[in-house]
Amino acid sequence: MAEETAKTAVLLEERRLFHPPKELVENSNVMQWMKKKGFKTEKEMREWCSKNYVEFWDEMAKTYADWFEPYKQVLDWKPPYAKWFVGGKVNMAYNAVDRHAKSWRRNKVAYIGVGEPLGDVRKFTYGDLYREVNKFANGLKSLGVEKGDRVSIYMPMIPELPIAMLACAKIGAIHSVVFSGFSSKAYADRVIDAESKISITVDGFWRRGKIVELKKQADEAIQDAPTVKHQIVYKRTGQDIPWNKDRDIWWHDLVKDQPAECETEQLDPEHRLFILYTSGTTGKPKGIEHAHGGYCVGVPQTLHWVFDLKEDDVWWCTADIGWITGHSYIVYGPLSLGATSIIYEGSPDYPDFGRWWSIIEEFGVNVLYTAPTAIRMFMRAGEQWPAKYNMKCLRLLGTVGEPINPEAWVWYRKNIGRDELQIMDTWWQTETGTFIGSPLPITPLKPGSCTFALPGYSMDVWDEAGKPVPPGEGGNIVILEPYPSMLRDFYKDPDRYFRTYWETYWNVRAGTYLAGDKGRRDEDGYFWIQGRIDDVIKVAGHRIGNSEVESAAVSHPKVAEAAVIGKPDPVKGEVIIVFAILREGVQESEELKKDIAKHIRETLGPVAMPEAVYFVKDVPKTRSGKIMRRVIRAKAMGQPVGDISTLANPEAVDAIPKIV
Ligand code: WT7
Repeated sequence: MAEETAKTAVLLEERRLFHPPKELVENSNVMQWMKKKGFKTEKEMREWCSKNYVEFWDEMAKTYADWFEPYKQVLDWKPPYAKWFVGGKVNMAYNAVDRHAKSWRRNKVAYIGVGEPLGDVRKFTYGDLYREVNKFANGLKSLGVEKGDRVSIYMPMIPELPIAMLACAKIGAIHSVVFSGFSSKAYADRVIDAESKISITVDGFWRRGKIVELKKQADEAIQDAPTVKHQIVYKRTGQDIPWNKDRDIWWHDLVKDQPAECETEQLDPEHRLFILYTSGTTGKPKGIEHAHGGYCVGVPQTLHWVFDLKEDDVWWCTADIGWITGHSYIVYGPLSLGATSIIYEGSPDYPDFGRWWSIIEEFGVNVLYTAPTAIRMFMRAGEQWPAKYNMKCLRLLGTVGEPINPEAWVWYRKNIGRDELQIMDTWWQTETGTFIGSPLPITPLKPGSCTFALPGYSMDVWDEAGKPVPPGEGGNIVILEPYPSMLRDFYKDPDRYFRTYWETYWNVRAGTYLAGDKGRRDEDGYFWIQGRIDDVIKVAGHRIGNSEVESAAVSHPKVAEAAVIGKPDPVKGEVIIVFAILREGVQESEELKKDIAKHIRETLGPVAMPEAVYFVKDVPKTRSGKIMRRVIRAKAMGQPVGDISTLANPEAVDAIPKIV
């Protein structure tokens, strides 16, 4: 009965609007701008900015970025390619570090690096960052790195990771950061694709009290990467590691005698800042390219408006820098604004579930940005953990990565936000570089909705034919106009770039971007994102392609074929389920299931660890041989499978077990 009441209460609250407190609205960064411009309402402001987006971004570019040379044209849009700030000269590292180090912010803390071992804290001021970035950039140059070269980075959450990224940006090299939770095989694929000259890694890092030996994994990866001439190794954990003296060099030896000044390259705004690989419909990860100019503008502007950062705020984005969230909102955004951020190395439950809350209390974190999967994990652990700490310092919250269920939203607000704080539910992607659909501190919230397109951005929901759907109906999320931080291309694969995002609506309206999410808008115009339309699974917010896991499964010597689906999970959002067809004559066993799961984990990394493996004799396919994952999923979940008469082997559907 008590549970019943609690449930009803949550459901009632779902329909409630959560209005922002008056002081938040009045003091917000966006409100200052609205007053200056004479906008009366949020709606009017959002609509004007999105309609007049070229004019809007012109103003933002002048507000948020410093230019070595002013641009002559704001936008040159020839779908599907946009060039922003044509004719200007700029550098992201200058905007993130140099300009602050040369101002009063020189002695302001940029990063509080919190290691996993208790008490292991290292602070870096903007002046420190400037010196370290310069020395490391000179080190890279001494190894022959030049403008345009790719540098692969495989590092954990320590301040040296942004230092390495910024050093690349400074000299116009293009970094490709690979999440340290990916396997050596995944790192190898990405180093080879990027044709990197340099690999940067660490001896090891701390995770749940144990050392993860990253150098060993990096070594395995670059064995197969002929373009890599040197590997730079930062000493983090200090255990013995294998060493190749012709190739490996310690970070501290590299920077030891380097000058503390290094010239910042003055770059064309379209010059690539980084490549970040992400999962898509096929097994091969896509190298998403982002540009200096767009990043200098879009990332600080969105952070300043959405999370309302103030000069003395402490900001904590709990994502890993190996994902886009960290690139944009741990590295480039907050630094560009001259903010103070936390970088935490370890696991949220180490030594116990109070770790995050103790960090918030100790360092006085004001704004916290995290993911639904983390919130649900803490819900499970119990509200007694956050209750032990004084988190009065918090003034705004945020979430990203997947749709947040209203229960988790309400728990987050109540237990972390004292039932007072607003939650910015930001919808965006690796491709977009910045938040796209998001509340502002002035926006009345509906739990589970990312509210509206931000000022300067245009979102809609379209049907298959390319018609906007009426309120309440589902369809494809599209982005209608270009914006500075958008992806520029796929590295070395422009055809796939076109096919993935632009081809679907090319004949209806060229330049309409297909986001790959389904969603709807309600009667008040609020957007509700409902998940991916393509074959991508969101495991704890991480994006993993079904076909990547399938090819990893098939690379097991005893597996002939595999189909992979995502199954809903109360904590992780989705988990990976593998249906494997064994090779002729192979005996089924529980051992083998475990071995296949382990093999997938070793091939792709811990993020891709399957929840379960099932043996099947066959999997349903189309006549052209495409695995029908949607049908498999429906059957496995005990839902109607729909019309399967056109399948090549409809009988295979019966053989799929119900798994719930
Ligand atoms: C996909 C992009 C962008 C940073 C992290 C993920 C899903 C992301 C939300 C949200 C509903 C969300 C979408 C999107 N997603 N944020 N607030 N509400 N869904 O980046 O790995 O490129 O994944 O994450 O499905 O397409 P990513």
